[in-house]
Amino acid sequence: MDDICTRLFNWYEHNKRDLPWRHTNNPYHIWISEVILQQTRVAQGYDYYVNFIRNFPTVETLANAHEDEVLRCWQGLGYYSRARNLHAAAKHIVARGLFPNTYDEIIKLKGVGEYTAAAIASFAFNEPKAAVDGNVCRVWSRIFGINEPIDSNLGKRTIQEIAQTLLPTGKAALYNQAVMEFGALQCTPHAPNCLTCPLAEKCKALAENRVHELPIKTHKTKVSERFFTYLYIHDNSSLVIRKRTSNDIWKGLYEFPLIESSTPKDWEQLSSSTELGKWTALIPYTYKGVATRAIHILSHQKISASFIELEVGKLSTCPKGYTIIPTEQIADYAFPKLIVNFLENQKK
Ligand code: ADE
Repeated sequence: MDDICTRLFNWYEHNKRDLPWRHTNNPYHIWISEVILQQTRVAQGYDYYVNFIRNFPTVETLANAHEDEVLRCWQGLGYYSRARNLHAAAKHIVARGLFPNTYDEIIKLKGVGEYTAAAIASFAFNEPKAAVDGNVCRVWSRIFGINEPIDSNLGKRTIQEIAQTLLPTGKAALYNQAVMEFGALQCTPHAPNCLTCPLAEKCKALAENRVHELPIKTHKTKVSERFFTYLYIHDNSSLVIRKRTSNDIWKGLYEFPLIESSTPKDWEQLSSSTELGKWTALIPYTYKGVATRAIHILSHQKISASFIELEVGKLSTCPKGYTIIPTEQIADYAFPKLIVNFLENQKK
C-alpha cells in the first residue's frame, strides 16, 4: 500500500500542473475552485477561477454581490445552480462569521457533497478525508480491478473505502491532489498511458487486459428531450428579454421569450398559438424566419432550440415579466450559452 503512494507521489512531483488553487490553503479559494471543477475541465475552468476570484476575492465580497453579477461571472460554464448555491452559502458563512473548518461542517454548505467537502477539508485543513471524484474512481477501480459499477451504491462505497484506507497519515492534501492528477493526466478514460505508468506492476486491470473495460458504469441516467422556440423580438436598437425564474435549468439567467413544447413546432403551428397571440396583439411584427437551430446537451436533458426572428418597427411595450433592453447592453446580462452563440452569429 505504502508502495503505491510512494510511486504516486513521485509521479506527482514530476508531472503536476501548476494550478493557482494549488498555491493556497485559503478555504474560500479552494471551495470556489472545487465547485468550478465539479463539472468542468481544468482547461476551461482555469480562466473562470481567476476571473471569479478577481471579482469576488473574499467570501464577504461574494456574499454582498448581486446574484446577477455572480451569474454573469459564471456565464458559459453551465450548471448554474452551482453559482446560485455558492452565493447562498457565502451569505450563510458571512452571517455565521467563520468559514467552516471541518468536513462535517463543510458538507452542510449548499451545493457541497461528499467529494467537495473532502477536497476542501483536506486541501485547506489537511483533514484525513479521501476525496473521490470521477478521476479517482477510475484510478482505483483499474488498480484494484473493481467489478461493481461505480454509479452503484456498492461500487461507490467500495472505492471510497479503498481510497480512505490508502490515505497516508498527515498527507491528505498531497494524496488527494496526486490521485486526481494521476487520473486526469496518466490514467485517462480512453487513452491511458500504461506504457509509462509507475503503477503498471500493481494494476489488476492491466494484468487482466481489462483497462478499457474499467470502471464499469450502469448508465442508468435517463435523458429527457425538450423543445424550445425562442422569439428574438427586436427593433433596430433594442430587444426583449426576461429573467428565468422557474426552478429549472438556467434559473436566474436571462433569455428571450420562450415557447416550450414536448414535440418540435414549426412556424405554421406556432403562428396560430395563444403564446404567440399575446405578442401579436401587442406589437405588430414582421416574421423574418427561423434564424438558427441548436442542440444543447446537459447531463439529464437534451434541448433542441430554434430561434424565430420577429422584427418590430419600434419596441415600446411588452407583456408583464419581460423587459426591453438596448442591444448595446446585452453584455450586462448572463444568458445561457445557446443564446450567447445565437447573438454572436447575429453580429456576423
Ligand atoms: N479537479 C477537481 N479538483 C481538482 C483539483 N484540485 N486540481 C485539479 N483538478 C481538479
